[in-house]
Amino acid sequence: MDSSTIVYSATALAVPVALALWSISTKPSQPYPPGPKGYPIIGNILDFPKDGWQRAFTAWQKDYGDIVYVNLMGTPFIIINSLKIAEDLCNKRAAIYSNRQKSIMMKELMGWGWNVGLMQPGPEHSAIRKIFRQNLGPLNVPVYDPLVMKETERLVKTLHKFEGDPFEAVVHAVGSVVITLGYGESVNKAHGAELTELNHKALDLAIWVMTRLWLVEIFPSMRYIPAWVPGATFKRIGARAEGMSQRIYHWPWEEARLRYEQGSDDPCIALEHMKLGEELGTAKKAVAVMYGAGVDTTTAVTLNFLYAMMLHPQAQKKIQAEIDQFTGGDRLLSGADRSDLPYADAAWKESIRWHAPVPLGTPRCTSQSDVYDGMYIPKDAMLWLNVALMLRDPRTFESPEVFQPERWLESHNPLVSELPDIQNIAFGFGTRICPGRYLAERAGFAFTMSLLAAYDIVPTGGAPVPDWRDAVWVENLDSRPLDFKCAFVPRSHLAAHLLEH
Ligand code: HEM
Repeated sequence: MDSSTIVYSATALAVPVALALWSISTKPSQPYPPGPKGYPIIGNILDFPKDGWQRAFTAWQKDYGDIVYVNLMGTPFIIINSLKIAEDLCNKRAAIYSNRQKSIMMKELMGWGWNVGLMQPGPEHSAIRKIFRQNLGPLNVPVYDPLVMKETERLVKTLHKFEGDPFEAVVHAVGSVVITLGYGESVNKAHGAELTELNHKALDLAIWVMTRLWLVEIFPSMRYIPAWVPGATFKRIGARAEGMSQRIYHWPWEEARLRYEQGSDDPCIALEHMKLGEELGTAKKAVAVMYGAGVDTTTAVTLNFLYAMMLHPQAQKKIQAEIDQFTGGDRLLSGADRSDLPYADAAWKESIRWHAPVPLGTPRCTSQSDVYDGMYIPKDAMLWLNVALMLRDPRTFESPEVFQPERWLESHNPLVSELPDIQNIAFGFGTRICPGRYLAERAGFAFTMSLLAAYDIVPTGGAPVPDWRDAVWVENLDSRPLDFKCAFVPRSHLAAHLLEH
């Protein structure tokens, strides 16, 4: 644990003692789920990993099973390691398992309270999800195909003969799509790059905070400690983050509003709502979270696919052969082509299964205590869903560590209908499932398949293809390849043709 997070433990020691005594006196009649034994008062603080949570949770599955309990100084953590339990809790008992953590650090000190991903269920959460459904639901997402294709073409041109880390080019393409559909082309042109970078920095800090333990969550009155007090690092982090999160929330909306007042008719979701003049606070929150939650995740899923291609040249060749046969090799691919490209579709799904872009989902919180399979789940427990393990669970997928698009094809796998829907795992569960999933998949598919239509994706400098068993990814809430570099080698006249026109 980071030292700045435990600074106040000495002054506050009396409180955990009282809490521990209280918890002994209110011991539930059913047992907690199994987990590491821990110590009085501090619970499992010493067992808990400083980072690499997903790996540690996966190791605990071997020792304790599919549902694991740890106690971090009175804060209960429940770790779910099986798809069945995740579905039982998050889908079938959604009323209990759909809250988010009441994070003082994130919501109050860092100013992320406007983010629907952190809101508790209720009228505002439902209203924001409705805006998502209307604009980014499966029937409406194809409306953005022209925008996605414009950015796809730009991405393909940018990566012509490129060698190195494609992150910048991909994040720029994703950011442009999401900012343009949210705030309009003119806002994207003027501020897109800066906004994407700001968002990236703000999220890095938010994720760093979310995957650490903060004493202020256990002792809420600590939030009143002034930032100048020695050791109050959490307050200074909060102030820095608040500046960024508030700018993400207000700045692009104000830019769009300014343009609207000047008579601009730049089509975008913000403008639609301004024209209607209805409850604008809700729309403002919805649009801000579209790029807040959508850019880094969609970038991760796109890069993960490109990485999988570099490591699996045979699968890459098969996709390219399918694309060439379908298009004649002379055009880019869009999300609309997906149903005509069964092998490409299978490889796309397989890449999401092979490496989950959000390996631990977004943590939930219980709204009341519950009993599952004879085990006691306390109220206000943080629920971590080990999605990456579910997607590589040998009980569900044969040879789960192998990248094998064929597992998704009926011609190769007669039991394909028994496989779970990848969207309903990698993008979360129940009423909080990712509302941006249709856009993420449609844009990611167009980007990656168009790149494969134009280029071979190979290691840089003519190096041999690394062994896929050595693949490494960033261990974060959203996860992309670590130190990924590749070369985009033209394989047809497509890229040159695009560049000429
Ligand atoms: C491949 C890309 C993406 C992945 C893997 C992903 C994954 C997820 C996951 C796992 C959750 C948590 C769901 C749960 O609690 O069960 C989530 C929530 C969310 N995602 Fe995504 N996401 C992606 C792209 C997007 C995009 C493009 C948008 C917006 C345009 C978006 C907006 C959101 C929002 C607003 C939430 C919070 C929903 C709520 O709490 O009610 N995501 N996403």
